[in-house]
Amino acid sequence: MAKILITGGAGFIGSFVAKALVEAGEEVVLLDNFDDFLYPATFKQARIEHLFKKEKRPQVVTGDILDGKLLGDVFTDGQFNAVLHFAALANPGRSMTEAGPYTLVNVNGTVNVLEAVSQHEVPHLIVAGSSSVYDDTQTPFKEDSYPLRPHSPYGASKAAMETYVQLWHEMHGIPTTIFRFFSVYGPWGRPDMAPMIFTDSVMNEKKLELSTDRQRDFTYIDDIVSGLMLGLERTLEFEIINLGRGEPHPIEDFVQSIEKAAGKKAIVTSREAPAGEMRVTYADISKAKKLFGYAPKVSVDEGAAKLVDWYKQYGSLVAR
Ligand SMILES: NC(=O)c1ccc[n+]([C@@H]2O[C@H](COP(=O)([O-])OP(=O)(O)OC[C@H]3O[C@@H](n4cnc5c(N)ncnc54)[C@H](O)[C@@H]3O)[C@@H](O)[C@H]2O)c1
Repeated sequence: MAKILITGGAGFIGSFVAKALVEAGEEVVLLDNFDDFLYPATFKQARIEHLFKKEKRPQVVTGDILDGKLLGDVFTDGQFNAVLHFAALANPGRSMTEAGPYTLVNVNGTVNVLEAVSQHEVPHLIVAGSSSVYDDTQTPFKEDSYPLRPHSPYGASKAAMETYVQLWHEMHGIPTTIFRFFSVYGPWGRPDMAPMIFTDSVMNEKKLELSTDRQRDFTYIDDIVSGLMLGLERTLEFEIINLGRGEPHPIEDFVQSIEKAAGKKAIVTSREAPAGEMRVTYADISKAKKLFGYAPKVSVDEGAAKLVDWYKQYGSLVAR
């Protein structure tokens, strides 16, 4: 049995990987500060309560990756076989007006985690990267594309973080994989992200403002979890790997899938795309396929239907 730490483990992606790991018999520790920055801490708590049966709940440590002393204690107690570093401030749009906290958490916080990982000689590190680092004029996005060209402070913080992660690997030799995620959605997904906002608007017949001419590589949470589980099985020296579905969808099509599942029509108005919003995200997933046999399975229609089903039961928790 391996012992695995997930930073940001109460978050959307972290908690679903934790569930898969607990079900596979691993010992999991979640570290999260349960902030209210993007969405309420109560939603994160509810997510954990619903995903895990009481007797099979991972250990949860409430704490901040900016607190070096706490990190030191968690790592000393933990003796981890692997660390999944997912704690971050996400949401490119929000970062356009609040760059400071993004740099602090995503860059300084990551350096704190890297220090703890190297000091405690953790043998395997996985880090959450993002499609937001790419230049959206060069599609599909390939891992070796150069230069990276983030459009938002969030994307820039993720690109900067990657540079530190690579440097730490070179200085300390810790086998490390950075997975760049693409628009992850599903039940218990982030209330601040487009799929949940679309679902909430359609279900409650609220006006929905859509930017024109935008495409996203929407990736269902189970496919991301499968990719991460494959990534945990193989310890690679240093790799950066896209985890997306590999199919960009016009956002109007995604809304249509939600409409179909909900049996309701969206009330759409168009808007100019806000500053910092990428025109398209599109993962080239051939590297993940080749290295791990990664094969995303859930179509946007299926995924949207699962999201709508979930919303019917838990939508009242998505406070907007
Ligand atoms: N969801 C996506 O589509 C997507 C896409 C690309 C990249 N990512 C990256 O994947 C990771 C997970 O994203 P998510 O969608 O699950 O987001 P999330 O916000 O649900 O999860 C992040 C978690 O980190 C925690 N956190 C934030 N600051 C912290 C700090 N200082 N100390 C400890 N915990 C802290 C939050 O409380 C939250 O629970 C992030 O690194 C994000 O940048 C996500």
